[in-house]
Amino acid sequence: MAGAGGPVVKHALPVPHWPTADEAARSLLFAPIALGPLRTTSRTWVPAMVPWRATEDGLVTPNVLDWYGRFADGAPGVLVVEATGIRDVPSGPLLRIGHDRFVPGLRDLVRTVRERSGGHTRLLLQILDFLSIRRRPEKAKYFQRFLTVGERHVAAVRERFGAAAAADEPNVRAQLATCSDDDLRTILTAREYRDYAHGAREEVSDLHLPHVRELPRVLPGLFAAAAARAREAGFDGVELHFAHAYPMASFLSRTNVRDDGYGGSLPGRQRLPLEVFAAVRARVGTDWCIGTRYLGDEAIAGGSDVDDAIAHGLAFAGAGFDFLSISKGGKFDDAKQPNVGEAAYPYTGPSGHECMPTVRSDERGPFGRNVHLAAAIRSALRAAGHHTPVVAAGGICDFAQAESILQRGEADLIAAARQSLADPDWWEKMRRGRGGEVRRCLFTNYCEGLDQKHKEVTCQLWDRDFAAPDAATTPRSADGKRRLLAPRWQP
Ligand SMILES: Cc1cc2nc3c(=O)[nH]c(=O)nc-3n(C[C@H](O)[C@H](O)[C@H](O)COP(=O)(O)O)c2cc1C
Ligand code: SF4
Repeated sequence: MAGAGGPVVKHALPVPHWPTADEAARSLLFAPIALGPLRTTSRTWVPAMVPWRATEDGLVTPNVLDWYGRFADGAPGVLVVEATGIRDVPSGPLLRIGHDRFVPGLRDLVRTVRERSGGHTRLLLQILDFLSIRRRPEKAKYFQRFLTVGERHVAAVRERFGAAAAADEPNVRAQLATCSDDDLRTILTAREYRDYAHGAREEVSDLHLPHVRELPRVLPGLFAAAAARAREAGFDGVELHFAHAYPMASFLSRTNVRDDGYGGSLPGRQRLPLEVFAAVRARVGTDWCIGTRYLGDEAIAGGSDVDDAIAHGLAFAGAGFDFLSISKGGKFDDAKQPNVGEAAYPYTGPSGHECMPTVRSDERGPFGRNVHLAAAIRSALRAAGHHTPVVAAGGICDFAQAESILQRGEADLIAAARQSLADPDWWEKMRRGRGGEVRRCLFTNYCEGLDQKHKEVTCQLWDRDFAAPDAATTPRSADGKRRLLAPRWQP
């Protein structure tokens, strides 16, 4: 996958600098910090990663407990549980919190993380809403069933195939299905072509859809109820998912053209996210942590950039968010065309690369690629007198790199997703002065490929390690070919 600018080259992993135990003890990385009412034991952070381990009904399974327990073994300061749906609607094997019946399983998850981290790790739940997205249809099916035939289609068929071919709707549909994609690009509207070529997906600006128009009325209550359940389950706080390809990010986006007071201008775009926050805060109180993950840059044409992100950050800090976790890109807008029968995946295009950069990248490379966004937001916050902690992510995989980001004041906490998947113990290895034992992420995104296929996420560095002492007792993937957990490390 190419980067945003410059020729694509393969970058070597940075030469690591691992600390001695003394150096780690004196570091900022292993110093505590407050996220509003919540005090962490260190500034290390495992951000949300969907592992595809819940039941089809969105319930916690033993494999979910094992997955988060394994991250907790490494005792990160903060562990964020995967994007969890706030509605009680089917969404495949992703966690849900849209009903009280989800609370007992989530309570088990909290207990597991507390025990396995020895009480070191603060546990947040990332909560989100999503709009519907359909699989790319077969061509014939799209024209037979999905297209709403209008005058432009009839006229195009009449012009190309004659009046008889355009005599009735079934004929128009049949003729359109014979057109080439080049022709269809001119015959269909841009939105119709996208529905045909990529699969239909709803957008927050679709005010003609009643449930989309109603989002500002329903989302504050849904987020608040989900947060209240998370508190009941024992989580230390929630991360409101305002990032990537999901509706709350789309409300914040410059592409949001809603004209009902919830789009267009900067205050209009910020309005629903702030109303969601206010509803959550009113429901759970001021003594519980509420933060957000949002985009420092959407990295799409016509999308929000870092100036918008600074303005959003100032608004969020002013409203009383307890932390801001900064991500980048991950949008549907520039995703690759999916195969017929598959849904678009928001991490396949250039903005996807910006979200999860790989070693095949432009001259800036993947390592700490997005830290400048967190730094710009943090600096604007501090200039305005806000102390809200800022979390940086994206290609962070080494102690010196992480510590220097903190020392330079570019961020307050360091998030590492893939490096923590490659080696969940890496924080603990660094803290103990045993960094030389870290299993280093290769940043080639095998794990992301599994996520794309909705398969249990694992890491190529350990999922076939059947020689490890714990292999016989470690759960395997549905096909039996991969171990689902990193081999245990004996400190
Ligand atoms: C398999 C996988 C699943 C992910 N799921 C989520 C998610 O549920 N929510 C989210 O905000 N980010 C998600 N991400 C993005 C990561 O949290 C992180 O921002 C990204 O991988 C860049 O950080 P890294 O370079 O440390 O991996 C996911 C990443 C991966 C690899
Ligand atoms: S699969 Fe590859 S990119 Fe993903 S965590 Fe493992 S080494 Fe890193």
